Amino acid sequence: MSKVFVMDHPLLQHKLTLIRDKNTGTKEFKELVKELSMLMAYEVTRDLPLEDIEIETPVCKTKSKVISGRKLAIVPILRAGLGMVDGFLNLLPAAKVGHVGLYRDPETLNPVEYYCKLPTDVHERELIIVDPMLATGGSAKAAIKFIKDKGATNIKLVCLIAAPEGIDAVHKAHPDIDIYVAAVDEKLDEHAYIVPGLGDAGDRLFGTK
Ligand code: URA
Repeated sequence: MSKVFVMDHPLLQHKLTLIRDKNTGTKEFKELVKELSMLMAYEVTRDLPLEDIEIETPVCKTKSKVISGRKLAIVPILRAGLGMVDGFLNLLPAAKVGHVGLYRDPETLNPVEYYCKLPTDVHERELIIVDPMLATGGSAKAAIKFIKDKGATNIKLVCLIAAPEGIDAVHKAHPDIDIYVAAVDEKLDEHAYIVPGLGDAGDRLFGTK
């Protein structure tokens, strides 16, 4: 059964407060999302396996630990997920980056994939799906399904702010996926915005309205 990890490091909580504030402008918002993503990346990679290698320090030969061959890929859900990529790559520069784009069919209301480009060896990689807001869970559920259909088996979902409804929806649809968030907010409003949330993450990242 999957788990939800709520990361409550003081730096995360402090920076979250700044991005929630409606007076925080686009430039600062973008920088803060990058910093938050870097801090999340640190926690999300806590279980990476290590192995000993032999090295020589200026003093002597020794064995020392390095990350053991696990290949990673960061997969932002377009468009707001893009804001989290650079923070992850700062800590994981060798990770590949895939992209998933979805829109909601206006008649059926089902998510439809309009873009999905993943590393070809996706079945050998640990995939970290990133999207700042986990609201209804509709996009995350669909993205996880598309990615699984392409052969990935080792997937984590990382969001900055989640609504309880979104966590439940992803849990039910994909009980094998662990979810990492910096905050679980109160609820969704009638327009599926997270309350208190931060508004539309994509608009705030890219200065659109
Ligand atoms: N997506 C957002 O950007 N914000 C929300 O509150 C919900 C979904």
